[in-house]
Amino acid sequence: MSATSAGRTDRTAVLCGLGGWLPRRRVGNDELAARLDTDDVWIRTRTGIRSRHLAAPHEATSDLAVAAGRRALANSGTPEADAVVVATTTPDRSCPATAPLVAARLGLSGAAAFDIGAVCTGFVYALTAGAGLVTSGVADRVLVIGADVYSRIVDPDDRQNAVVFGDGAGAVVLRAGHADEAGALGSFDLGSDGDQEDMITVAAGGSRLPADPALTSHAERHFAMRGKKVFRHALSRMTESARTVLDRAGLTVDDVDRFVPHQANLRILRTVAAGLGLPADRCATHVETAGNTGAASIPLALAHDHANRALRPGGRVLLTAFGGGLTWGSCLLTWPDLPPAAEPAHQEEESAP
Ligand code: UT7
Repeated sequence: MSATSAGRTDRTAVLCGLGGWLPRRRVGNDELAARLDTDDVWIRTRTGIRSRHLAAPHEATSDLAVAAGRRALANSGTPEADAVVVATTTPDRSCPATAPLVAARLGLSGAAAFDIGAVCTGFVYALTAGAGLVTSGVADRVLVIGADVYSRIVDPDDRQNAVVFGDGAGAVVLRAGHADEAGALGSFDLGSDGDQEDMITVAAGGSRLPADPALTSHAERHFAMRGKKVFRHALSRMTESARTVLDRAGLTVDDVDRFVPHQANLRILRTVAAGLGLPADRCATHVETAGNTGAASIPLALAHDHANRALRPGGRVLLTAFGGGLTWGSCLLTWPDLPPAAEPAHQEEESAP
């Protein structure tokens, strides 16, 4: 392990920039209720979601990732990074990875660049990988992005999933620093259970079952989730992972200033927070106006909290996620003193009635 300054060996990844991006088009519950067998009350009661943003037909994951990445780099004070990690379930193409293209479009050609696939836990996995690049000395500055365009894989006529998922991207910049600095990333916990792979899946489109319309059904070519079972797994895995990472750090929930969970469903967030013994007002919620944005949800919730001054510099932040795989993970950090975002996360545009 290399040191960042003479005599110190506690080289640590420190968060020093944050940015988010939501596509312009906002889709309210009533717009979905006008064409699907659903209604605003069901959606709000079961998920907490009032609206979500959907990408335009020409917008791909890399477009959202570049917008969020540019904001995070600007917020960090310098446009440089020597590694770019993109967590996504909806890469621009199945080959190559999306990260090299994102790096090039951000003026970071030459940087190490790779994708991480851990579905909705992707950002926590990518953050852990990015921190590892920093602590090992492989990179001095890492841009970590979570970006997803779920509207490309969710069947728009599937009422269960079309109401839940939204599109978006969020990003953070990590730099080399020390464990006692505000922004330092601390303990991590990652896990998976591949025996439950069919809980959240797009069956066709990979090497097991190519997405040939002659050989696959419409359902196999779209995102499928066993909602109720996933809900139960999410509650137990997120709670266990949050406890594990706190134990590893020798901390308790009383030490947590802000809990920023994956924004799957408001009921999940509230139940996990309550199960951990955290008051509801310490739990970040952004799902109401963004929906479930997959790998983007945690950095977007951080950007939303930062804009609303809900994150206190020096305060301890607990990130916990759960997703397809199944996968789960948590990370602890102290919050840095970041400048306010120079640009808004999106230019809001009302959906047509
Ligand atoms: O991000 C990765 C991890 N993802 C999650 O953690 C998501 C976890 N799951 C969920 O958030 C919830 O399970 C959903 C929001 C997806 C579904 O909510 P639920 O309360 O679990 O509903 P359900 O699946 O038990 O369905 C209850 C009823 C069913 O009707 P019957 O069988 O009782 O007649 C569904 O067909 O609600 C029906 N339903 C709907 N009704 C109106 C399902 N979707 C809708 C809808 N509008 N959009």
